[in-house]
Amino acid sequence: MKEKLHACVIGAGLMGHGIAQVFAQAGHKVTICDPDAAILEVAPQRVAHNLEQMGISPGAVLANIFLTQDLKSAAADADIVIEAIPERLELKQKLFAEIAEYAPEHAILASNTSVIPITSIGELLSDDARARLVGTHWWNPPHLVPLVEVVRTEYTSEAVFESTFQLLLSLGKSPVKVYRDVPGFIGNRLQHAMWREAISLVAQGVCDAETVDTVVKQSFGMRLPFLGPMENADLVGLTLAKQVHQVIFPDLCNDTQPNRLLDQLLEHGHEGMRSGQGLRAWTQEQADEVRKQLALRLIDSVKHPAS
Ligand SMILES: NC(=O)c1ccc[n+]([C@@H]2O[C@H](COP(=O)([O-])OP(=O)(O)OC[C@H]3O[C@@H](n4cnc5c(N)ncnc54)[C@H](O)[C@@H]3O)[C@@H](O)[C@H]2O)c1
Repeated sequence: MKEKLHACVIGAGLMGHGIAQVFAQAGHKVTICDPDAAILEVAPQRVAHNLEQMGISPGAVLANIFLTQDLKSAAADADIVIEAIPERLELKQKLFAEIAEYAPEHAILASNTSVIPITSIGELLSDDARARLVGTHWWNPPHLVPLVEVVRTEYTSEAVFESTFQLLLSLGKSPVKVYRDVPGFIGNRLQHAMWREAISLVAQGVCDAETVDTVVKQSFGMRLPFLGPMENADLVGLTLAKQVHQVIFPDLCNDTQPNRLLDQLLEHGHEGMRSGQGLRAWTQEQADEVRKQLALRLIDSVKHPAS
């Protein structure tokens, strides 16, 4: 792969601007494309704010970032195109059909979808383009969270799968390979298995939402950076793991639809921090403080990684 790449990031929102920042910080040229002029325009300011929070002077990084509303010119000489537009299958399918038309024949085509199978996103593509389509699932905030899940479909070429993985390594990320294109990949399946149970506990009146957060943060959440679930199972021993599962598996939530509690909250406009009320109540100051503390703590753990 070339030393200096041209990366094209489609979507300048929460994820797109941060993904662009990572490429620009590594010295690559990045073009960010978004049809919304207002969102596009503030992307460099958001990158500058992120960098300042990290104690990095933004000038050299911002010099690598270019903005456009025109997809055709954005993709024209890209080595990799990363899509970070809203989580809607038909939008992504249509976008990739256009990207495949505009991007060079060697370009890697990557989607940052959270949970949609990459195979479905590539349904409108030719065999050649499908072979270059791969999932790159970054985590928010992408400039701080190290993991990127690299997802291959049955059509993805080995060369694209491997070179995407190597590229992310070279950017200083911690990529992992996901060999089967299952909905939600690895991280979101694990995360939402826990959210399903957490919401169910609240809906059943076992505890309130704040208590769920306290339990996680004051117990196994503290261990997670140092002890993954597989390590933990081996640490306590598989005999105990099996005994625990025999007792609690029959009682755990196994709903196949979102909990009714979410509908009830949403019907009242309780969207979360944005509206001041979700599973918990939020003042603007509290919401701002959560976001600020999250960024500062993540910056600290990037500086002092657990392993
Ligand atoms: N927010 C997260 O924590 C997170 C984490 C990982 C992955 N993701 C995934 O990343 C993707 C983007 O999420 P986000 O949170 O950044 O969304 P966002 O709403 O902040 O940004 C999406 C951007 O895409 C733009 N857009 C819409 N249609 C477009 C089009 N056709 N072409 C180009 N740009 C278009 C919008 O103007 C907007 O700026 C989604 O698939 C999401 O599921 C999100």
